[in-house]
Amino acid sequence: MQTDASSPTLLAVESSCDETAVAVLRGFDGLLASEVASQVAEHARFGGVVPEVASRNHLLTTPPLVERALGTAGIALSDLDGVAATLGPGLAPALLVGSSFAKGLALGRGLPFYGINHMEGHLLSPFFGRREIPEHVGLVVSGGHTLLVHVRRFGAYRLLGRTLDDAAGEAFDKTAKLLGLPYPGGPEIEKLARSGRPGRFTLPEAMRGSGNLDFSFSGLKTAVRYLLEKQPDADRADVARAFQEAVTSVLVQKSLRAARQANVGRIAVSGGVGCNRFLQDALQREATAAGLEVCFTPNALSTDNAAMIAFVAAWRAASGHASGLDEEVRPNLSFEWLGASD
Ligand code: KG4
Ligand code: ZN
Repeated sequence: MQTDASSPTLLAVESSCDETAVAVLRGFDGLLASEVASQVAEHARFGGVVPEVASRNHLLTTPPLVERALGTAGIALSDLDGVAATLGPGLAPALLVGSSFAKGLALGRGLPFYGINHMEGHLLSPFFGRREIPEHVGLVVSGGHTLLVHVRRFGAYRLLGRTLDDAAGEAFDKTAKLLGLPYPGGPEIEKLARSGRPGRFTLPEAMRGSGNLDFSFSGLKTAVRYLLEKQPDADRADVARAFQEAVTSVLVQKSLRAARQANVGRIAVSGGVGCNRFLQDALQREATAAGLEVCFTPNALSTDNAAMIAFVAAWRAASGHASGLDEEVRPNLSFEWLGASD
């Protein structure tokens, strides 16, 4: 197979949490394969993700998943021009498996290695496939993070706000647990809330009124707990609806405020919670009314996947920024590692 220096073929491995994912991307938009193996069932009986269980599963799953991705892509290892992996943030034992595998592959085949920040993967995923990242405010809402970022272009990011405690997805998951729903709770709450009646309960929209762009969701979960203790017969669908409305309202208001403050006309949403239709509809409505454009991410690229990791690697390859094989995993990798700057 011909390799074209301007559109290299990259293989990316993502193993930061409980999903093993492998993707093959040619250039910026040639997604030849994107495989995701979820471990949700393995962790469900423990009521949450167990790092060592995740690690063992990544170890068992990564080699066959790489085989499968290459098969789907219809290419051989010798057709690869580079290898990428998530270095953080995430669970250390889980990150180690995917990144070690990718580094080994890069070393064995003499290919460049790209160590990627999972958050940058989410942040750029609304523009997957594009050779231009337009200026926008990115709202990243996942299970582990809630961020508002002013993106000027690839590599030029400024953090505007973040959660001070629970991430938006974490709030969905913990509230789902209180409501007796399985993990991951986001899609379950969304489903249940559809039959919920609006206005039956009012929950606090924490920090909605505060002038800054930070979030706090832990009080909301506690409010749901108190509500259920005081009114054990409360209709679960009504509670789910009130919860979803409270989260949505804060996310929408702060995203709009961020766009105003940064003076940009576009908001882009990424991360698992971005799949939520109630949030999408509310944001679309309010943004349109405010004269702003909104971009959403397709569901398959919103929840954890390796295509978004490969996409960041494609940008890095284009700018000639490979990583050293001695770059370690960074479980607590913060947003600042992105070289956040204007
Ligand atoms: O981005 P992601 O796959 O993983 C992290 O990097 O954390 O996000 C997973 C989170 C979970 O908390 C899950 O409950 C939430 O995204 N989620 C949703 C929906 N689908 C997934 N939350 C609300 N509504 C949804 N439809
Ligand atoms: Zn994620």
